[in-house]
Amino acid sequence: MTILVTGGAGFIGSNFIHYMMEKYPDYKIVCIDKLTYAGNLRNLETVLDKKNFRFIKGDICDRELVYRIFEEEKPDVVINFAAESHVDRSIESPDIFLKTNILGTQVLLDASRKYNVKRFHQVSTDEVYGDLPLDRSDLKFTESSPLRPSSPYSASKASADLLVLAYHRTYGVPVTISRCSNNYGPYQFPEKLIPLMIINALNDRPLPVYGDGRNVRDWIHVKDHCEAIDIIIHRGKEGEIYNIGGENERANIDVVRMILRELGKPESLIRFVKDRPGHDRRYALDISRMKKEFGWSPKISFEEGLKSTIKWYLENRSWWEEIINGEYMNYYERMYGERLKE
Ligand code: NAD
Ligand code: TYD
Repeated sequence: MTILVTGGAGFIGSNFIHYMMEKYPDYKIVCIDKLTYAGNLRNLETVLDKKNFRFIKGDICDRELVYRIFEEEKPDVVINFAAESHVDRSIESPDIFLKTNILGTQVLLDASRKYNVKRFHQVSTDEVYGDLPLDRSDLKFTESSPLRPSSPYSASKASADLLVLAYHRTYGVPVTISRCSNNYGPYQFPEKLIPLMIINALNDRPLPVYGDGRNVRDWIHVKDHCEAIDIIIHRGKEGEIYNIGGENERANIDVVRMILRELGKPESLIRFVKDRPGHDRRYALDISRMKKEFGWSPKISFEEGLKSTIKWYLENRSWWEEIINGEYMNYYERMYGERLKE
């Protein structure tokens, strides 16, 4: 079996490659990644010279290159992780989100159709459903909830989902889609909440919490997400959508406090800053389809997962120091400079 993984040098894609190479030593994994600011070959350094792994630096929007890879590798399964993935960046400049997340997905779908892949899996997000009110804990999104994305990022992901479903209906491309909640774990780029807070706390810098800090996210350890995708590509039904969640809703401020406690740092580092425009209040997923059809549920508790993630960042300082000493600081200044002055 040959699996083409797009965006495999990013956070979830690289975790997925490690997970699969360990579990299925007979599979060949081919990875295409543009190596944007979020892609990092260090995430893959332990597999780069394995015989059953091939890395290609390239853009999923590059039709010629993508077709050539399909021609050469004849993948059985394609898993599309490649995306621009950060909401704040999508608010700043939406264009690249539409290009990569929608048009890039279309190129991959065309190639999957042309070369008759057995499965095209789209890695999507719970953010396509929009948000839920804080005071209605009884409400959760199911796979048939309407799409009501709030940000350019989530709108681009929702558009891609619709395209994937249209290619199934019109051309019979054998697709599946998974919509996952907020991931955390090793190799997450420090623009996202959990690694950003861990690193700022370690450097005794202020922790910028948007708005009142009461926004709620459902956190899942990346390894649980990888396991669920593995199940869906092997056993999921064509044309179906699967919600993957952690059943672990937390207010941002509580997550930040847990990190400070774990690191032995004072809460005085917390700074409430100007809110994100259009900030989704709460995400929550109903994952009963994954439970019923496959007996899957998340295994890693948040307490245990957060502890091991913090340990990873402590033990892999050079990984994130290299990032924060590069272009990242310009981003940080743009995003937080004014906010932290107010
Ligand atoms: P990430 O930003 O860490 O990684 C994205 C990867 O895609 C990077 O390696 C980047 O170089 C690559 N990439 C970007 N544009 C590309 C292009 N045009 N061609 C080829 N490669 C390109 O993102 P992530 O957090 O690992 O997310 C992976 C996928 O999972 C995304 O599709 C995202 O929408 C989805 N998702 C993420 C989360 C989360 O909490 N992080 C939750 C649900 C779904
Ligand atoms: P993030 O990790 O960007 O993921 P998403 O927006 O996709 O959910 O943010 C998670 C939550 O944390 C979200 O409610 C925004 C909030 N947040 C902050 O309060 N401060 C920050 O510096 C960042 C990056 C996020």
